[in-house]
Amino acid sequence: MEFGNKIKSEWLLDDNVTFLNHGSFGATPIKVLKAKEEIERRLEREPLSFFADEYFVLLKESVSKLSKFIGAKEENLVLVENATTGVNTVLHSLEKELKPGDEIITTNHVYQGVRNTMEYICKKTGAKAIEIDIPFPNADNKLIIEKIRDKINEKTKILIIDHIASPTALIFPIKELIDFCRSKGILTLVDGAHAPGMLDLNLEMIGADFYTGNCHKWMFTPKSCAFLSVSKKWQSMIKPLTISLFYGKSFSEEFAWTGTKNPAPFLSLSPAIDFYNSLNFDNVKDYNHNLVCEATEFICKELNIPEFPDFEMLGFMASIEFPVKVPMNEHLTMELRNHFMKEYKIELSFHILNSKVFFRISSQVYNEIEDYKKLVTAMKDFISKNK
Ligand SMILES: Cc1ncc(COP(=O)(O)O)c(C=O)c1O
Repeated sequence: MEFGNKIKSEWLLDDNVTFLNHGSFGATPIKVLKAKEEIERRLEREPLSFFADEYFVLLKESVSKLSKFIGAKEENLVLVENATTGVNTVLHSLEKELKPGDEIITTNHVYQGVRNTMEYICKKTGAKAIEIDIPFPNADNKLIIEKIRDKINEKTKILIIDHIASPTALIFPIKELIDFCRSKGILTLVDGAHAPGMLDLNLEMIGADFYTGNCHKWMFTPKSCAFLSVSKKWQSMIKPLTISLFYGKSFSEEFAWTGTKNPAPFLSLSPAIDFYNSLNFDNVKDYNHNLVCEATEFICKELNIPEFPDFEMLGFMASIEFPVKVPMNEHLTMELRNHFMKEYKIELSFHILNSKVFFRISSQVYNEIEDYKKLVTAMKDFISKNK
């Protein structure tokens, strides 16, 4: 299949919108949505038989197929609605391991929902949430590792690390950090919200104690499909946030039933992976990464923004400093998103890091360089009106 705007019709995406924010919520191909609807219809034809006879078999098949896609052990893997739930599940379950004075460490690139969860758990346990400042855009793997290693001490209990950060799109050197933490007896929780489908994952090789990732961002499943991988050692301690019928049974059984819900997003994993494979993983990776690098270079040159230092640290997204000084307020990122959508029909994501505003672009197989040329034209117009 040839990539670019001509295959956008495989999605329901609005033709009038230049969609440069696949990162926030993904976008599900029509083929996968149809498969999801078929599962829902099957369920509604005979709900009792579906949940009694079919659901658990189909769920196991979905987990098995996912485990191969992300290089995980099937028995370590459970499905959850989203990465937020994955992080909450781990931190709530580990509450009793934490006492006043203990430290949970992360970086300033952390996702706000995870920051809030850390704050909540720390308030309950007396542990302390520590954020390490990682500069952006001038960070490299060596600096990141040094900065985090320097902050780790005998009080550190858990490192929460992004695989791909939300505000900056940086890929973090998680393997080295996990190996270091293991040698010090520190637990590692990876927030891999963006990684499945963007990186060639091998969870076994990564070796984190806990890894959560979304399938609804870059793996093409419908919304509400994510996973949590827990190393064998911790499985008896990690409980779903909702306790239901299989409490006290195995790790996978406890997570397989957390009350009645629509199972179709979980059971759409198979058609989503089939869709992904039909595009060819290596082709998707090359196309999206090359496109986001080319686009970033082009945007920075056209808007006189310093060149991005290290494209190796990017996957399918890039965060670029917004070239206009705008007064800060708590709604600024949403106001800018709304403005670019209303005035220019461009869907972008805005973030604030260290009091600077960044706009984040994404590349997916339905994008092409023309999309970013439209963005540059819009940015130039915005700049001229806001001098
Ligand atoms: C790094 C990171 N973690 C977690 C999340 C939350 O994802 P979800 O809303 O699917 O739980 C996001 C969402 O964009 C994210 O970027």
